[in-house]
Amino acid sequence: RPTILRTRKRILVTGGCGYIGSHTLVSLLDPSTTSGTNVEYSIVVVDNLVNSSSESLRRACDVTGLGGGDFVVDGDDDYGTDDAGGRLIFRKVDCADPSGMRAVFDEFVPLGGFDAAIHFAGLKAVGESKTMPLRYYRVNIVATLTLLDLMEEYGCRTLVFSSSATVYGVSTRDRLNENDEVGTTITNCYGRTKHMIEQILRDFHASHEVASSSSGVGGEAASSSSSSSADVRDPWSVVILRYFNPAGAHPSGKMGEDPSGVPNNLMPYVAQVAVGRRPHVTVFGNDYDTPDGTGIRDYLHVMDLAEGHVAALAYASDEGCGSRVGGTAGKGKSGMGKISTFNLGTGTGYSVLDMVNAFGRAVGRPIPVVVGPRRPGDVTIYMADPTRAKEDMGWEAKRDLDDMCRDLWNPPFDCIVAFVAVYNQFLLNL
Ligand code: NAD
Ligand code: WQD
Repeated sequence: RPTILRTRKRILVTGGCGYIGSHTLVSLLDPSTTSGTNVEYSIVVVDNLVNSSSESLRRACDVTGLGGGDFVVDGDDDYGTDDAGGRLIFRKVDCADPSGMRAVFDEFVPLGGFDAAIHFAGLKAVGESKTMPLRYYRVNIVATLTLLDLMEEYGCRTLVFSSSATVYGVSTRDRLNENDEVGTTITNCYGRTKHMIEQILRDFHASHEVASSSSGVGGEAASSSSSSSADVRDPWSVVILRYFNPAGAHPSGKMGEDPSGVPNNLMPYVAQVAVGRRPHVTVFGNDYDTPDGTGIRDYLHVMDLAEGHVAALAYASDEGCGSRVGGTAGKGKSGMGKISTFNLGTGTGYSVLDMVNAFGRAVGRPIPVVVGPRRPGDVTIYMADPTRAKEDMGWEAKRDLDDMCRDLWNPPFDCIVAFVAVYNQFLLNL
């Protein structure tokens, strides 16, 4: 059989130790995700671990079958070297720190630099953003500006950005599509940072289009640095992904989201009730205009979301993604040189009670609920129209709410329950 030579692309992943980032690493590193293509990814994660631990990287390697000497995480230290053949390298860096980030870009220049970046890093707690607005604006915006500056300077011009459906604000539309209005009715600082970053990306991308059309050769004027290793004709390709409600975990049970303190989101809260850490789920209002009176959301399995990033990367890099990431649309279109925005959601809505009942099915017993008042700022329905992602990138969600609950409930939650049961028995026997 003829040997197919695979191109190794090096991707900078900011915030890769976090919930969505670490699951995306699994999809990027998993040979089955990129099988049938000539691309293989090697990853450099930068994260300051403000909301995570580098243990998530070890687990990502573990479930991908990449365990071994090159991937041993020692505490929260940097690890991995490219010349050792490592496909996953970690540098503990604050993305808003220009000198720390420059050191990472410098380190990889001799190895050809980065082909693309996926930018997850940022703060995401809606409630906290209202009490610490400056922190949210500083971290989320400055981290993005720092990254863009360095990408421009070092000639890495493909970016996938984690935005959020929250940019649509308080919408009354049943299904939101990418052309719907954004910005004006956002109710919190977190959401505004995402909207502002989208604006920054659009202005930045437009400046390169102006530069390339005025230079006549595709962007001489776009190069801002004398030390740039960029080919000035490389176009900027930017993909903005608006996630709806990410939920669930990798089916191995080895990865997931285990927030410290009170969870901000519904599914991790339900999971903590299921393991007995909290007595009941408080349903925030059952007087909405929905079939069971509770709010409806578009919950998206985190592994579908992870595959959405692989599709976005391929789309932005003109690799034709639709045939290989579970898409049904055949070869995708190309987003190379463009700025593109996609909703990532299922297009299906589930109520709070649907979620609680589905989790009860996964656990094998009912989850206790108490109905409370509405949570300020909540809307009745938030659902994606995911058509564009399917048509252009060939991506669509494959997993449903039962999959999300089952995969989250797999160990470690199963193990915690077993442990609690044995421990209780032990106490009874004393
Ligand atoms: P997360 O908190 O688990 O992951 C974010 C990661 O970024 C963490 O590992 C954190 O340590 C790191 N980080 C934060 N600030 C940093 C900085 N200044 N420098 C370096 N690293 C930094 O969150 P997540 O749920 O994985 O979300 C990832 C991205 O997706 C975020 O940008 C978030 O706003 C966005 N998003 C999340 C959701 C959701 O419901 N989880 C929905 C829509 C959008
Ligand atoms: C879902 C539903 C609640 C908890 C948030 C952010 C959004 C995005 C995703 C980052 C709602 C109800 C919840 C509980 C409940 N994140 N609920 N009891 O608010 O749709 O979106 O996460 O970008 O920006 O706002 O998600 O999981 O908090 O709530 O009844 O204890 O569950 O009222 O209807 P939300 P959520």
